[in-house]
Amino acid sequence: PAEQVRVRDLAGRRVVVSAGGTREPIDPVRFIGNRSSGRQGAALAAAARARGAEVTLVAAHVDAPLTDPLVADGVDVVAVSTTSELRDAVRRAAASADAVVMAAAVADFRPLAAPEAKIKKVTGQSPPAIELAENPDVLAELAADRVRAGQVVVGFAAETGDETGSVLEHGRAKARRKGADLLAVNAVGPDRGFGTEVNEVTLLDERGDTVAKSAGSKREVADAIWDAVATRMTAS
Ligand code: CTP
Ligand code: CA
Repeated sequence: PAEQVRVRDLAGRRVVVSAGGTREPIDPVRFIGNRSSGRQGAALAAAARARGAEVTLVAAHVDAPLTDPLVADGVDVVAVSTTSELRDAVRRAAASADAVVMAAAVADFRPLAAPEAKIKKVTGQSPPAIELAENPDVLAELAADRVRAGQVVVGFAAETGDETGSVLEHGRAKARRKGADLLAVNAVGPDRGFGTEVNEVTLLDERGDTVAKSAGSKREVADAIWDAVATRMTAS
């Protein structure tokens, strides 16, 4: 019952959600990746669809059991791998979207060169160094470019907290830095966030002020995010 949404308040809206984790090739068989399962992004897509939106899910390595039901529901699922592919797909869909939610874990760096042949180990030689290049920040670009007037741009921040600041302090700084309308901050660690069924987020606005808190299933968190997005959408 908690998962049932009563209102179709996103009817007539187009939304884009990115989900999963991008992979950057090191060579033909290896990559730099991350532990994002895509569950929160899939839940966001399902929730938006249930509320009546036209939904594009840009999915980076999200397992079929998560995406198949969405396709059956009419969600347009675009599979991508690298950050460059994700960026292209998100920007293409964002051009006609009322809201974009970047739930994907985007690789910050990619190997500068990915050789076409597999890297070999040579006994007695020191291991090769992998030189990295910084990836474009898709969320910051969307927030800065505003490809469509009135578009609501939402980011996620998975934080651990460290000696320089708490989860929320890092989140506040990131909210101000990114320029997104909303930033959903959640604590991650071996047993929190990634790969789990539940989530706990604090929603911050572009000034870093808390606008909502949500804890529960990833679907419940998704609905809390769409609630905040809906209030920020301009009347159509
Ligand atoms: N993001 C993005 N493009 C990137 C990196 C991140 O669009 N190259 C988006 C993510 O999808 C997320 C938000 O930015 O919505 C925050 O990602 P996060 O990794 O927490 O922030 P970073 O700015 O990369 O900071 P750091 O990893 O150093 O904490
Ligand atoms: Ca990052």
